[in-house]
Amino acid sequence: MSEQDPKRFIRTTAATASHFVDVNTGGIVPPIQTSTTFARDDRYELLNAAHTYSRDTSPAIIPAERVIADLEGGGECLLFPSGMAAIAAICRTCQSRDHVVAPGSMYWGTRVWLEKFCDRRGIDLTLVEDADASTYIDAIRPHETSLVWIESPSNPMMNVTDIAAVSQAAKAAKALVVADNTAATPLFTRPLELGADIVMHSATKSLNGHSDVLAGAVVVRENNDVLARIREERSEAGAMPGTFEAWLLLRGMRTFAVRVERAASNAAKIAEFLQSHPSVDGVRYPGLPDSAGHEISRRQMKGGFGSLLAFHVKGGAKQALAAAGAMQLITSATSIGGVESLVEHRHSLEPERTGVPQNLLRLSVGIEDVNDLIEDLDQSLTSAVR
Ligand SMILES: Cc1ncc(COP(=O)(O)O)c(C=O)c1O
Repeated sequence: MSEQDPKRFIRTTAATASHFVDVNTGGIVPPIQTSTTFARDDRYELLNAAHTYSRDTSPAIIPAERVIADLEGGGECLLFPSGMAAIAAICRTCQSRDHVVAPGSMYWGTRVWLEKFCDRRGIDLTLVEDADASTYIDAIRPHETSLVWIESPSNPMMNVTDIAAVSQAAKAAKALVVADNTAATPLFTRPLELGADIVMHSATKSLNGHSDVLAGAVVVRENNDVLARIREERSEAGAMPGTFEAWLLLRGMRTFAVRVERAASNAAKIAEFLQSHPSVDGVRYPGLPDSAGHEISRRQMKGGFGSLLAFHVKGGAKQALAAAGAMQLITSATSIGGVESLVEHRHSLEPERTGVPQNLLRLSVGIEDVNDLIEDLDQSLTSAVR
């Protein structure tokens, strides 16, 4: 396998699940080992030194962890029962009186959790007003900031942050950079190569891709102190994913590259279509040449711009909700990264202070035929905005 060409490596790694063959049976997919505990021999030695009790680690999760680490070009991965559990485990490595920098506009579940967590623990949280690297750099305090959070492109506003520029500044300040790579996916962006220290995923989304598993992941370059603390946190706080979820995730990831390539190609065509639609007042997609983050995205997203986009319906909440409601093929539901296209009116779900516009619809583009998706968007937008 060519490690020189990351796309080639990712496609093959995902499809073969890191070349898994079960040595006991010859099976080419991993068996589902449900045991929570692992036996010792007559000298009280573990039969397999790697496994004691499944709250620490288990054979059920290791293949999926290996694949995600490889996809991200990382050395180690820890799987979690959800993206939020991964986020919580990372943040719990911060001490009281630490300083954390995060974007004000990000997946709001992360923002809400961070705000409450920092408040409870006495951590000083700076939410930066925009996603520009210069804003981040101004907010980073040398030897005081311990964690810098990046989400690029962000959900749902599609803000883009220059990961390399922020990582360089954070490194100089001795702060760790965490990149939530859920929307970009490792197919298009590999934050560790851009200088980030930790990559975090809601594996619920494109990694699994079938809207049937909740999972999260943390990836680092190599086993280090921070990973040890996150691992300890996972084990002691009991945040291990279930056996079946880990197995389903591995199965979902086998088609990761084809799904994400197709969905991103659909998204690019849809973004262009929406841009010229008379019922649309602006499209947020980093692949559009006139979008705010396009130049940075061209540098940091290789070969595509992802399957997530957002657009402003002419009018307000009434027209946006009417358009979502009129869609026949695209389902109104939360979440992103599945094989089916989903639309969501985030303003209905997020608190006012997150600033998501009333006329914004977020579209998670799936792998359907793009002409059918465009037809559905056209009829729903035309009927909603008169
Ligand atoms: C960008 C991003 N990060 C994190 C999460 C949280 O992941 P989970 O729902 O798997 O806990 C989400 C969920 O939508 C998300 O979109």
